[in-house]
Amino acid sequence: MQTMTRIELAAADDVDTFWHHAAALAASGVPHEALVVDIAGGTADLFGGTPATAPSSSPQTAYGISTVLRALGTTALLHTDPQRFRLFYRLMRRLEAEPYLLSIASDPDVARAAALHKAVRRDMHKMTAFVRFREIVAPDGQPAFIAWFEPEHHIVAAIAPFFVRRFANMRWSILTPRRSIHWDGETLVVAAGATRRDAPTGDPVEDVWRTYYANIFNPARLKVQAMQTEMPKKYWHNLPESDLIAPLIKSARSRTAAMIAAPASIPAKPIQRPPAISAPPLTMATVIAPGPDAVTLESLADEEASCRRCPLFQPATQVVPGNGAPDARLMFVGEQPGDQEDIAGVPFVGPAGNVFNIALERVGIDRTQCFVTNAVKHFKFEPRGKRRLHKKPNTSEIDHCRWWLDIERKLVKPQLIVALGVTAARGILGKTVTISSMRGQIQPLNDREHVLVTVHPSYLLRLTDEADKRREWNAFLADLATAKDWLADHPRL
Ligand code: URA
Repeated sequence: MQTMTRIELAAADDVDTFWHHAAALAASGVPHEALVVDIAGGTADLFGGTPATAPSSSPQTAYGISTVLRALGTTALLHTDPQRFRLFYRLMRRLEAEPYLLSIASDPDVARAAALHKAVRRDMHKMTAFVRFREIVAPDGQPAFIAWFEPEHHIVAAIAPFFVRRFANMRWSILTPRRSIHWDGETLVVAAGATRRDAPTGDPVEDVWRTYYANIFNPARLKVQAMQTEMPKKYWHNLPESDLIAPLIKSARSRTAAMIAAPASIPAKPIQRPPAISAPPLTMATVIAPGPDAVTLESLADEEASCRRCPLFQPATQVVPGNGAPDARLMFVGEQPGDQEDIAGVPFVGPAGNVFNIALERVGIDRTQCFVTNAVKHFKFEPRGKRRLHKKPNTSEIDHCRWWLDIERKLVKPQLIVALGVTAARGILGKTVTISSMRGQIQPLNDREHVLVTVHPSYLLRLTDEADKRREWNAFLADLATAKDWLADHPRL
């Protein structure tokens, strides 16, 4: 019987130790069939044979592991497949004789490694999308946030930096069965797993979120299968909106039929239809949007859907009209829809929208009472492989799109408009300004409206330095609090 060589990892995601030992064993010529990988507290690699020799200490070795294999293993080795370490060791050994092995997608080992990688990436994506924090009051009286999540693979420590970046200024814990991660605003701690009972089951913020979810749910766009692929049922029980999903799906058919049967809303005075194909030249007549005397936001959204004022309508999935309370006193204007907004047809539902929602929640502004829109109504992007990378709209696109923003302003009649970033400021003011010259001051726009300029939430997401994040987050909250206080001091007459 073959003598087996055993290596021991401190944990199932202890990939660094695996690489370290694997390089040493490969340098000594240990065949892949002879490898046993033990994980403290359990065995990762279950197969026949009698484990015998543990490597005494890892000799210093010049054995070079393929960088491509390493990159693949960084994710794939977080899979729960008990054979994963052996697979990667076998690939290491095979690469010695078959240097092009990794480019042969049909090779069973390569295909398996790619499948593990894909499954782990998907699990990571699901975790970034479906973790929901519940607010609690920590023993020191300060707010803290706890989430419960059940990933399929050993991804928790690897994904932790994402949550640190995203929620840098919150104190939070994410509890999972195998690992938990805790962030106090400064230090990340990876600790033992927990049980669902350790996590709270609800908080007041969830009502806002549930209302919001129910509002953006469009029965006509419902594709149950696609929805379940993107949001598999097993994640539903952790989502505050989950108990809305079944009834919403159930009622979708009748709501869709009602939507189809409902007569189209006809504007009292038809709004000027834009030319059908190419972008018209920008003239003062188009820059200063007259706007119709009486249309509804619904009919305006229909008109926006056929907008051809600039070329951005072509690659975008759909127009993203403003959304919110039709008589809001407070209007927020962002830059343009992002990838997720383009798909959902609703502004600020992606990563920047998350930051925005959390900030509103922190200062006590109810988003459902506001009107949220963008200076530019179509997503401008650059295709990069399967991804669509955001591209900043240019001044011509902003100026063409002001037509729609002006009509939204006319219909909603907000008292205060908050410009989120420079594009929004140009959309509102009709000229380019710097954030630093206007930030935080409330200024009259005309006899009805005031404006407050602040940063865009995605600016906060791009910051990398911890101190900058903290400072800028607080400054953003302070600007929103200024808006809230001003509205309290200026009731609508
Ligand atoms: N950024 C914006 O400016 N608007 C959105 O709707 C989403 C992201």
